[in-house]
Amino acid sequence: MATSTAPGKIYLFGEHAVVYGEPAIPCAIEQRARVTVEERRGSGLRIQADDLTLDGFTVEYTGDTAGTPDVDVPESLIEAAMGYVDEAVTQAREAAGVPDAGFDVSIESELPLGAGLGSSAAVVVAAIDAATRELGTVLSREAVAERAYQVEYAVQDGQASRADTYCSAVGGAVRVAGDETTRIGTPALPIIIGYDGGAGDTGELVAGVRHLREQHSFAAETIATIGDVTRRGEEALRAGDLATVGTLMNFNHGLLSALGVSSRSLSSMVWAARDAGALGAKLTGAGGSGCIVALDETDQAQTALEFTPAVEKTFRAALADTGVERDP
Ligand code: MEV
Repeated sequence: MATSTAPGKIYLFGEHAVVYGEPAIPCAIEQRARVTVEERRGSGLRIQADDLTLDGFTVEYTGDTAGTPDVDVPESLIEAAMGYVDEAVTQAREAAGVPDAGFDVSIESELPLGAGLGSSAAVVVAAIDAATRELGTVLSREAVAERAYQVEYAVQDGQASRADTYCSAVGGAVRVAGDETTRIGTPALPIIIGYDGGAGDTGELVAGVRHLREQHSFAAETIATIGDVTRRGEEALRAGDLATVGTLMNFNHGLLSALGVSSRSLSSMVWAARDAGALGAKLTGAGGSGCIVALDETDQAQTALEFTPAVEKTFRAALADTGVERDP
């Protein structure tokens, strides 16, 4: 039996634009997915998932998603979660050279599904690491990141960047632009998360932005401008200038709104944090619904979010310096 954990992430800058080769800066947080894998007889796959923030479920299948469990989240999200685990196991079998290994897989996660905190990337990264170790092969974090990217690429029909998977595998703050990935140093980041209890459909949101970009040159320019904001944000991070980082996060949120991926609840959380004095606030991840990230050294933004009707949960997140880890 092998168990691995991998962190979720927030985007300081650059989601969506990263799909078109612009840089993005995601940052790993100490909310983790934990995946335990045990080899079993036969070639099937049995997955048990407790707490994908919701009721636990168990599903047994041999490659298709038949037998979708009865849980209180959109079926598409559960099917997506199953698809990710299935592809992750395929990658692990290939990496270890054991093409028909069967597994019992058990998933626990502190990351809500589809809420912009990188739940699928964290599950995929931890699953690849645990399943390869269970088969006697140890991959470097970089190799896990590469295979996890292949999983997202396959499951999301080629509409995926390396950002979520690389960040979850190596930890810390990272810069991702196309195939270039690198860790960057940051000052201590006073990260507050606000969660509206909902989920966005990443595939649909990415497709919506693609459509806008094809229809309107100003949408393409908006995406290029997000790239410029991210480059400036990287400079501000390197200089330890949190006030400028916050201002640029606000700018980034406005540009994401222009691309149609914000929502009433995400915007109301962003404004609650800003009104309470946060240095900056923006949605994180694909958008639609889910989470915002704010920077605030005081307790005020978090307190304001607690009293905001759209908010289901708010918490302070610590930067996860280490990516995927073996869990003893
Ligand atoms: C989703 O977490 C981030 C997006 O940029 C898609 C991706 O990078 O694969 C919207």
